[in-house]
Amino acid sequence: MINKIKNILKKKGKTKLVCLTSYSKNHTKILDKYCDIILVGDSLANVLYGMKNTHKIDLDTMIRHAISVRLAVKKSLLVVDMPKGTYDNIKNAQINATKIMKRSKCDAIKIESNKKNYSIIKALVKKKIPVMGHIGFTPQYSKNFNVKGSNIGEEAKLIREAKRIEEAGAFSIVAECIASSAAKKITKSIKIPTIGIGSSKYCDGQILVTDDILGLSGFYPKFVKKYINLGKIIENAVRKYKKEVLKNIFPAKKNSY
Ligand code: KIV
Repeated sequence: MINKIKNILKKKGKTKLVCLTSYSKNHTKILDKYCDIILVGDSLANVLYGMKNTHKIDLDTMIRHAISVRLAVKKSLLVVDMPKGTYDNIKNAQINATKIMKRSKCDAIKIESNKKNYSIIKALVKKKIPVMGHIGFTPQYSKNFNVKGSNIGEEAKLIREAKRIEEAGAFSIVAECIASSAAKKITKSIKIPTIGIGSSKYCDGQILVTDDILGLSGFYPKFVKKYINLGKIIENAVRKYKKEVLKNIFPAKKNSY
């Protein structure tokens, strides 16, 4: 795991980091071949469980999905999101992060910044738990979905926040919905890689929610690129299946015992 993190750090300024979310073994089997980092994001609250935000997803659910993902991770770094409320003080953060690491055998955890929880990162790193930070739009704390860092004051605050997360010992930072110019400055200001989502090409790597790029989620803000409309492909297959069942074409002799 330490070597995997060293390899991630070495790529800064040289090769872009390719990162995606995954919540299950079957998706992971494919993603692992192409990704540097696979994140079991708490976005599964919205994407899989239909919740209106990520606030109510619990630790056991995150761990269950992480265990499924772990089954198919061969080479990527596996990072698991800590749900809201599970790292609100040092003791809870250490207990819950240890639980995630031990039960899922993941390589690292991610926590969202509330601009105050630097000591939490420090305490986790002290326990040898690798931490990925998360700044900009942070779904666990931000009230409204909007672009961050689009004025000089906000930009300076974000740079300071990123530096403090780096100083606390994080090995990388997700930068979500940050204006291009701010993302560029943040990336230049720190030695650890920035992983952008809606934060321009000036980050050291990119992450998106896999269901979004596959056209399965129905959530397509400007920063998402839909690489395929898998929803349509699945619908065509299911329509064909229905037709064949109704016409008694399926199961055929070769599908029967
Ligand atoms: O929960 C998640 O999927 C995330 C990514 C969008 C970065 O935090």
